[in-house]
Amino acid sequence: MSNDSDKPNNKAEKPRRSQLSYGKLDKDGFIHRSWMKAQGYPDHVFDGRPIIGICNTWSEITPCNSGLREIAEYVKRGIWEAGGVPLEFPVTSLGETQMRPTAMLFRNLLAMDVEESIRGNPIDGVVLLGGCDKTTPGQLMGAASVNLPTIVVSSGPMLNGKFRGRDIGSGTDVWKFSEAVRAGEMSQEDFIAAESGMSRSRGVCMTMGTASTVSNLVEAMGLCLPYNGSIPAVDARRQAMAHMSGREIVRLVRDDVRMKDIVTKDSLINAIKVNAAVGGSTNTVMHLLALAGRLEIDLQLEDFDRYSRDLPLLVDLMPSGRFLMEDYHYAGGLPAVMKKIAGFLELSAATVSGVSLGEQIEHAECYNDDVIRDIDNPVKENSGIWVLRGNLCPQGAIIKPNAASPELLNHTGRAVVFESIEDYHARKDLPELDIDEHCIMVLKGCGPKGYPGMPEVGNMALPKKLLEKGIKDMLRISDARMSGTAFGSVILHVAPEASAGGPLAVVRDGDLIEFNGEARSLNLKISDDELQARLEVWHANKPAPTYHRGYAKLYVDTVLQADQGADLDFLVGGSGDEVSRESH
Ligand code: FES
Repeated sequence: MSNDSDKPNNKAEKPRRSQLSYGKLDKDGFIHRSWMKAQGYPDHVFDGRPIIGICNTWSEITPCNSGLREIAEYVKRGIWEAGGVPLEFPVTSLGETQMRPTAMLFRNLLAMDVEESIRGNPIDGVVLLGGCDKTTPGQLMGAASVNLPTIVVSSGPMLNGKFRGRDIGSGTDVWKFSEAVRAGEMSQEDFIAAESGMSRSRGVCMTMGTASTVSNLVEAMGLCLPYNGSIPAVDARRQAMAHMSGREIVRLVRDDVRMKDIVTKDSLINAIKVNAAVGGSTNTVMHLLALAGRLEIDLQLEDFDRYSRDLPLLVDLMPSGRFLMEDYHYAGGLPAVMKKIAGFLELSAATVSGVSLGEQIEHAECYNDDVIRDIDNPVKENSGIWVLRGNLCPQGAIIKPNAASPELLNHTGRAVVFESIEDYHARKDLPELDIDEHCIMVLKGCGPKGYPGMPEVGNMALPKKLLEKGIKDMLRISDARMSGTAFGSVILHVAPEASAGGPLAVVRDGDLIEFNGEARSLNLKISDDELQARLEVWHANKPAPTYHRGYAKLYVDTVLQADQGADLDFLVGGSGDEVSRESH
């Protein structure tokens, strides 16, 4: 690694973008430098060496990212060591477990914040520090629209949860404990006692939930150093990796290797395949579609089914399996997984390490074949995401078959309809609710526009009277999302959503719904004429908008449907990094 701080980048003859501010000898240069010197920087800091932004989502109300303030210090060590200058800046932080009505409503707001913070400031490259579910996707989307050299350092997973002598998983065991309490199998006292045992350290959920899935997909896309997806948050090796990431981003700036040089269609397809092999979250469908939109890469909803259907599920982690993220890292992490599925991957894809993906995983080893199975002994033969079509979801819907009950993957049943999440909460446990285990629970009003923000409520808990009968799973359909830590036979992301006038809006109690997983079809068993007539009535009486101001109105007015990643329509694509006008 060169330490030649005065050398401009190799590809471009023009000076670094930071020099458009700090390299000027006039009044504007004075202003840019002088106010920065208030922080104690000597003259040579502005002599043309790479200026690296550290985009930090640290927050005490985003507990999963609460270790990132310390991680930033290790990134800075690496940047200084390599001859760059680190400048840390805060952006909106989104705590999945804390924000109402749902953190997803604000993912695009974070993306706007990240995009304009990067573009507006005199930096040459950026390190994205994120972790909790929506933080990394929002940062990736924003950074993609600017396209500077970019590297990701994630929070890393919490230590394994422990309760009464056994491992418990973030989220996954919350849903199980909650249903056990409702079924009378667990006391309220034990339920509360499990809280501290579940979250024992800083870091993201230690199941293969959305956060760990996304950090693994970032690794699969080559946007971070190896093992970023698995080193525990509090393991000193994460600090060392952060240090090395600081060194790498300086090299990326010197070589002018930008985000679009790393993330290509091939790397997105690699990510889809890795998502299948690790049993990743359904939420990544939306995030990868939105990221592809920012990068102007043609990625379609069907690609998730097409590229993942032959992949085996190798990683035996909750929610699909038994183990947790600590076990996964000690077993070899993502490099070990990718080595095992190397035959499915595009190994020539680039990485921020400066080597190809194939070279990066060449010497990877697996140290525990129970946690990361061999390809001839998978957890399940076919993994991935199924993409459904039919008159109930003309623009698509998805299901994660490895989290579902096999007998429900081909099922016809009577619809029991909840018009909103409030309707569901009010009626789900009423003794008179006309429902049995063969019925299909249908939830409306939880899509991007409807809630708004598309919350993780698609895995509706079963009615109490069915839990008491010992029923553990039913087919459920909604326009909502599902937590990456959740499980069950749950059809999600129905598009168009009910609040946008999709056919889901006109499903009635007692209608028959047919789901044929093998055929990837989801149909409401009424005639076309009947469906059309119901939709006409719905449109004539559609509810008035409930948001009249602020970001939520902007979101509801402009958000795209789930099959397009739920970005705001005017944010698709990018504006690059150039800002020609001065500030004074
Ligand atoms: Fe933040 Fe799970 S709630 S990662």
